[in-house]
Amino acid sequence: MNDTKQQPGEEQGWLQSVRWNGDRLDLLDQRLLPEQIVYLPLRTVQDVWDAIRELKVRGAPAIGIAAAYGVYLGVCEEGAGTSTSELLGKVRRDAEHLATSRPTAVNLFWALDRMKACAEGLAESGTAPEPFRAALLAEAQLIQAEDEETNRRIGEHALSLFQDGMGVLTHCNAGGLATARYGTALAPMYLAQERGMKLKVFADETRPVLQGARLTAFELQQAGVDVTLICDNMAGYVMSKGWVQAVIVGTDRVAANGDVANKIGTYSVAVLAKAHGIPFYVACPLSTIDLGTKTGADIPIEERHEDEITQGFGKRTAPKGVKVFNPAFDVTPAEYVSAIITEKGVVRAPYEENLRKLFD
Ligand code: MRU
Repeated sequence: MNDTKQQPGEEQGWLQSVRWNGDRLDLLDQRLLPEQIVYLPLRTVQDVWDAIRELKVRGAPAIGIAAAYGVYLGVCEEGAGTSTSELLGKVRRDAEHLATSRPTAVNLFWALDRMKACAEGLAESGTAPEPFRAALLAEAQLIQAEDEETNRRIGEHALSLFQDGMGVLTHCNAGGLATARYGTALAPMYLAQERGMKLKVFADETRPVLQGARLTAFELQQAGVDVTLICDNMAGYVMSKGWVQAVIVGTDRVAANGDVANKIGTYSVAVLAKAHGIPFYVACPLSTIDLGTKTGADIPIEERHEDEITQGFGKRTAPKGVKVFNPAFDVTPAEYVSAIITEKGVVRAPYEENLRKLFD
């Protein structure tokens, strides 16, 4: 069943990417944007796994939120079990399965660990099956609510680095669609808009699946933010014109040394920014910082199907049989990162030391 009714936030000009709806998860199908606004009703763990793998939901925090609801859907499935210990076993198996949906965004594993820890705590304290289920739903809803609040804070800190009239370039989509609301890299754009401050945003279209064109340009335009879409290979030219005073992007995982994995192409933008003396900012919640991953070289980089490059959106644009390399992410070394903006504030080099302090 496709539910295209007006969704929360729509009347205010924003779309909620993940929405709990009583007994199911309504997920905005981001593959169809900007042409169609369709919410998919998800009822099983496998529905959620497929949605993450197929980019119906994407963006590190949104993937984590969807997976958290997936764990709850799992304990409501037929045959999930009748005792708390059976339900705990189901939580563990489902979390392990959901963790295989995509490898790079650490928020997925963070959210699943949090759901598992919640379930284990409940089981240890002898919680009966019904309250066990209810508490898991409450935990998923809390993860979502906290993400919204976190992003607002990230936006406040990021905005302190921007001035009225500035040109800001972003890559991929680290906006409301990639999170519970506001986004990370786009949060300062929304706060600036609320406060009557003008930012001129350049959105890279972001090959191969065009998160910049289909999602960032769409959500900023809907909100009335001044956004100009450019192809990825125009970023250098736009910078050389003096139109960009800052770059801000999101990230899927920050390593302990400050290396940052984000959508493929981010590294090139960072190098260009450095060449033009433009600050390169990364915005993310603490849940994206993975002190257990030492450097960028340890971050698993997802490779996706060649069709995304050779026949994206149904049109063949490369010869059949050509060799293709399609990594979904790249790593920007810490030396290119001017600051990492979190809900706890703006962190600068030396990252090894200063990122650790965030968790003290
Ligand atoms: O493949 P995607 O669309 O999930 O990639 C998303 C990104 O690279 C985002 O920039 C990142 O997840 C941060 S979202 C706040």
